[in-house]
This record gives sequence, structure tokens and C-alpha cells, in this order.
Amino acid sequence: MSTVELPVNVLAEGLDTVRRAPPGVLVVFGASGDLTHRKLLPALERLSRRRLLPAAFAVVGVARTEMSDDDFRDLMADAVADAGPGWAEIIKNSVYIAGEYAHPDTFSTLRDRLAEIEASLGTGANRTYYLATIPEVFGDVARALGRVGLNAPGRGGAARLVIEKPFGHDRATARDLDAALHEVFEEDQIYRIDHYLGKETVQNVLALRFANAIFEPLWSRNYIDHVQVTVAETVGVEKRGNFYETAGALRDIVQNHVMQVLSLTLMEPPGSIDAQGIRDEKVKALRSVVVPNATEVPNIAVRAQYDSGWVEGNAVPGYRQEDGVSPQSQTETYVALKLAVDNWRWAGVPIYVRTGKRLPKRVTEVALQFKDVPHLAFPREASRGLNPNALVLRIQPDEGVTLRFGAKVPGQAFMVRDVLMDFSYGAAFLEEPPDAYERLLLDAMVGDPTLFIRSDEVDTAWGIVQPLLDTWGGGGAPLSGYASGSWGPRQADTLIGRDGHKWRTP
Ligand code: BG6
Repeated sequence: MSTVELPVNVLAEGLDTVRRAPPGVLVVFGASGDLTHRKLLPALERLSRRRLLPAAFAVVGVARTEMSDDDFRDLMADAVADAGPGWAEIIKNSVYIAGEYAHPDTFSTLRDRLAEIEASLGTGANRTYYLATIPEVFGDVARALGRVGLNAPGRGGAARLVIEKPFGHDRATARDLDAALHEVFEEDQIYRIDHYLGKETVQNVLALRFANAIFEPLWSRNYIDHVQVTVAETVGVEKRGNFYETAGALRDIVQNHVMQVLSLTLMEPPGSIDAQGIRDEKVKALRSVVVPNATEVPNIAVRAQYDSGWVEGNAVPGYRQEDGVSPQSQTETYVALKLAVDNWRWAGVPIYVRTGKRLPKRVTEVALQFKDVPHLAFPREASRGLNPNALVLRIQPDEGVTLRFGAKVPGQAFMVRDVLMDFSYGAAFLEEPPDAYERLLLDAMVGDPTLFIRSDEVDTAWGIVQPLLDTWGGGGAPLSGYASGSWGPRQADTLIGRDGHKWRTP
């Protein structure tokens, strides 16, 4: 029997895995800003290079900075070092509107220019509005779009609003923001980005769990002793001191990125891998996380701030010496947390979370540590190098999955020690994965909300961290220090040590 080999792209198209944006316009508010320049425009160019954008496509930039269409086109060219051929065409189609975000003129001009582009390019009425502005104007922009009717999908088209965290400063302000957006847009028009969900390896948590028969049966309190989630960064606050002072690690990382990764790790298998199936299960998982009560906060959470030190061979200043940071700042740059989950699958399995800036290594991982064997038949000396089994989902860098298990050390004596079985993305798949923004921008333009956060998820995640914010904000928790380049304060070791565990050294 002979087989006919199909080219890979034919196979892929047959399976409908290649998605392209339909004709449309991407309206970027905050078009003169850093996010647009650093992330959005390069991501669009890569989409165009991969032929995932149609010929009928344009960017409309909106911002307060005075600029002509040509200045904006130069800025688009400038954002990409080595552009593919399609980029020049998109630049040619694109225009810029200078104006205040709350001013009606800005939006009547936008409506008119969209009409011109749609008539001349045939982009249909597919409009994606990306709010790359400061969060304070999210509500204003949404309302102003509503006033000129741009919130409603045009005939045969779609109107979608893409926004980035922070979604509020706490649970109450997040609810206010949501109410403001919902005055004008339906929930299914709102695409809340958490760029962690755009990372291939975060999505791989779903594949690992639900495309394999061997992991899921072990994925519960029957076999798992505890879970450790680590989001470690080597960078400090860089140029964002002003912003970070109002945020801190709990708001910046735990409320969003950690909760997203955690919900995928903890969720039940969905009936189908689609937006509703996945998001329903994610929010259900988050609702099972026990909301800490104020009195227990000191026992389950540690907050700390980096001092000066050495990271990757360089001397670095302490947080309070960074630009835009108060010399008396009480903002945390490190959080360690112990959470509990009250449901059938996870009852009694502690979830330890830690995140920090200026740690020794940039690494994001989820480690599931298994229970000890019921009875270790080897003499103690023979198994000194043996630790409990662990399955580690390596989200970044060095993306992949590691399984730690015991093996016999070669030789006459019977010694057992840990070995690692490794799957590495880079080695298994040669194709470069799309970066998070590329993936998410395309999803938004295609209208696939699976990897975006629903309103109830945001609210539930805030609910979990709110008691910590309240206690910490009220001065009810000491702020510890840690040397830059260390793995955090010793209080974090005490937190996990109380349960007889240790933080992993990734
Ligand atoms: C952002 C935070 O959301 O995520 C930053 O605001 C942080 O403070 C960044 O540095 C980390 O993202 P990544 O993709 O580098 O892990």
C-alpha cells in the first residue's frame, strides 16, 4: 500500500487550522505610544508576513500627539526593522487622527475616515478597536465610540473592543470599568487581553491535560501533594517606576497572569475546547479557590521589596533608588502566597505561588509535586538522592515539560536518584511559534474570544486577591526586603517550610 504525502499547508488548511483575518480596519487608540510601537505594529507586520492579513486592511491610529498621516506611516515603517513586502501596502492604506479621547470631534472624524476607508478599500464594516492608552481613558473612549454609533457592528461586519490590563485597580474599580464598557459594548464584543494566554506554552497546558490519557488520571488530590507556580523575573521596574508604584506585584502579576495560568491548571475538562467551554471551566476553577480571610493573610502571604544586589553579574540598585519610585515606597516587588482550593479534585492540595522582580533567573513554571510512594522499600542511604516525582510545565524560557522520577544509578550497588525526562518545544517543533500579541491580535480580528478573559473571570480573580490588598493597604502586613539576585525573602521560605515543603530551584 502506498501513501500519498500531502504538503503540510494542505493538511493544515483541510483541518481549518490556518486562520486569516477578514478584510477590516484596526483602530489603535494610543497610536503614538510605546505599546503600539514595541508590540502591536511588529505583531501586525509578522501577521502580514505570514500572509494572515488580507489586502483590504488598514490601521487607523488615534492619539493626542499631533501627527500627519505621513508621520504616522513613517512611525509604522520605523517600528519594524526588516519588513516583509505586504507591510508597505498596509502602511499606504493607514491613516492617523490627532485628538483628545473625550472630545466628540475626534470620534466624528474617526467615523468619517472609517467610512472613506471602507468605501475605497472594501474592508467591510469589520472594526477592531484596540485601547493601547492609559487605563484611565478606557471608559471615555468606549462611551465616545458609542456616541457616534461606532460600537454597533455595521452591516455584515463586527465591532470589537480590545483592552489590556490593568482592568481596574481593585475589585470595585474593576466593576466600575466593566459597567462603563457594558453601557456601550456587549460582553461578546469585549476582548480583554492577558498576554500570558497568548503564550504557546500556556495553551499547551490544555493540550497536555486534555489530549493525553496518562496525565489527567494523576491530576488530583489522589496523587498530587502540592502545586508551585513561579513567575520570576530578573528585570527590575525598568522605566515604569511611576506606574509600578501604584500597582505592585500582586496587581501586576498575581491578579492576572498567575490566576490565568492557575485556572488552566486547576480546571475540569471542558465539554469542548471552545470559548464558552474553556472559560466556563476556568471561572468555575477560580470560584473554587478559597478567598483568604483577613485574619489569615499574615499566615498565607508574604510581601517584599528588592534591595540592591547583583543580577546576572551586574550590580543593580534597590527598588527605592529606581526612577519614579519614592525613597519610602511600601510597594511590593515580590509576593509569596499559599492558596487552597475547595473542590472535589483539589481539596487539601496547597497551591504555592511566588512572583518577583530582580530574582536570579527569568522563569515561569507550574510544578506539580506528587505524593511520596506509600512505602520506600530501599534503605535510606540507597535513596538519598531521590525526591518526590514532579511534573513541571516550563512556560518560559526553555519552553517544555519535565518529568522528574527516580532511576537506578548504574553500578553494583542499588542506589536510586532523580532523573529528568524532558520535552523541549525548540527541539520537537522547528517552526517559530507566533508571539503572544501576534496570536491575540489575530484572534480578536477573527472574532475568537477563547484566549481572552471574560468579565466574570476578572471579577473572581480580583475577589481572591482583594483581602490581601485590603490588609496590605491598611498597613496590616510588614514589607520584607530581599537582595536583588536572591530567590526572595526568608519569610517566603518560612511560609512554605511550615508545611514541610521547600521552594523549587528552577
Ligand atoms: C506584564 C507586567 O504584564 O508582564 C510586567 O506588567 C512584567 O511587570 C511582564 O514584566 C512579564 O511578562 P513576560 O511575558 O516577560 O513574562
